[in-house]
Amino acid sequence: MNPTFGYLLSLLTVIYGTVAAVTFTVPERARTGSYKYAPLDLAPVGISFEFFAFPSYFTNVTATNQCLANWKDLTGVWPPIRIGGTTQDRAQYDAGTSAYVVYSVSNPADAPSSLTFGSSFLTLAGGYGGSVVVGLNRGKNQIQNTIDAARIAASEVKNLLAIELGNEPEYYSRNGQPIASGGWSPAIDAASQNNWAISVGSAVNKRPIIQAGNSNDSPPQWGAEELIATQNATVKQYIKTYSHHNYPGGSITSLMSHKGISSNLHVFDADVAAALKENKPYIFGETNSVSGGGAAGVSPTFGAALWTMDYVLRATYSNISRTYFHHGTVGNCQYCFWGRYSMGAPYYGAYAATALLAKAAYLTALDDGSTNYAAYVSFGADGSLLRALLYNSDYFDGSGSRSSQSFELRGLTGTTLKAKRLTADSATSRVDRGGVVSFGGQTFTDGNCKISGTEETESLSISDGRTTVTLKASEALLVYFR
Ligand SMILES: *[C@@H]1O[C@H](CO)[C@@H](O)[C@H](O)[C@H]1NC(C)=O
Ligand SMILES: *[C@@H]1O[C@H](CO)[C@@H](O)[C@H](O)[C@H]1NC(C)=O
Ligand SMILES: *[C@@H]1O[C@H](CO)[C@@H](O)[C@H](O)[C@H]1NC(C)=O
Repeated sequence: MNPTFGYLLSLLTVIYGTVAAVTFTVPERARTGSYKYAPLDLAPVGISFEFFAFPSYFTNVTATNQCLANWKDLTGVWPPIRIGGTTQDRAQYDAGTSAYVVYSVSNPADAPSSLTFGSSFLTLAGGYGGSVVVGLNRGKNQIQNTIDAARIAASEVKNLLAIELGNEPEYYSRNGQPIASGGWSPAIDAASQNNWAISVGSAVNKRPIIQAGNSNDSPPQWGAEELIATQNATVKQYIKTYSHHNYPGGSITSLMSHKGISSNLHVFDADVAAALKENKPYIFGETNSVSGGGAAGVSPTFGAALWTMDYVLRATYSNISRTYFHHGTVGNCQYCFWGRYSMGAPYYGAYAATALLAKAAYLTALDDGSTNYAAYVSFGADGSLLRALLYNSDYFDGSGSRSSQSFELRGLTGTTLKAKRLTADSATSRVDRGGVVSFGGQTFTDGNCKISGTEETESLSISDGRTTVTLKASEALLVYFR
């Protein structure tokens, strides 16, 4: 916001006790006017499961299936999943075990330092109804073991979308991974990725099949643009997607700031463009609010839910086709959307974003990312308007009075619109501590993720093609055009 404008807003606030509306003109159809439109994947909001924990989530956490099914009810397809993470580079395939995974830890809150997995692990992944990305080991430098696992993945996982060869390779040297023992750099990693992509891709006889990249350190040092520059046509025929990881971190207020989210995502612009130039999707294969399982004071809050919502929408608008939110150790995961006993507030943000994008073919943003106020619009395959999502990212911590911001939408037809509000007492509300977060008046039940309560909608009236609606600080609203 420019300083003069900001000053005027504060002055008006003092004088009138209310702030001037932010106004957005809604385009009548997709791909008209001066806005940018992202073509949409069927289900842009996905989940990443830490490799060793994946069987637990699917066999021993009741909420998992229902939490995923709730999104399928909106979109018509199961959300995409990715299985991987740090423990994919600690895991070795064992053709002789009937167990999903074999490991031991001294404390159930820990991730194992090494593990084996059997073919049943991949059979379990093959039972999932949505697309699956399987992350395999490169760090241990045992390519035959990885090829053996890749062959089982190719035969058992009927919805196999891609195979990753290694997770966050920039840390291999620091983690003492054998593949980095002779020296490690972006260039050495790229040569290794390329050779492995050809070896594994030709062994399973599928092209394209490899999800390449998978770094966490920001581009351009590690990333798709850097990797693509090293790849010839032989390698490229095996590459299905380019993936990056991202954990922005920060406090609740910095995390949920729309301006902050927008600038965080611009870091990836050149990488996205490089992948799209190859006609390959660019995705966030693993992401969440704060690295290392999340931050206790930030990741489980409603503010983090609002971050989740705005972040996945801004990423999607930026042509990042799918965003997989990471889920780590069951029972020790601050940013998780659900656990064995409790829901996590961030699930609600992901749900609201999924509701905006459901069955849509295009997404645009009406704002330029320079203020705390966001507006997105989704459109059907025929270009017609579906829904809009409005977001007031002003921070409210629960003390003092809660500010509000009105949003005016212009260019509308008809007389009324239906809307559903995403709200909580404050940005610090935590579902796992008894706080109430709701979307359209409804909640998701601890332990089983079933939707509960009666749906509440608001009616917005249109006059002169305009409607004005007020959002409290730290709130969002989904508006239905039909
Ligand atoms: C399932 O979860 C319980 C904790 O509720 C745990 O004690 C048990 O070991 C888990 N079983 C498996 C197979 O992961
Ligand atoms: C393409 O790159 C791969 C791996 O980087 C290399 O093995 C191969 O020889 C290259 N092919 C050509 C035709 O240059
Ligand atoms: C996303 O890609 C589409 C082309 O498919 C392009 O028109 C649009 O401008 C891109 N969006 C951004 C934010 O660059």
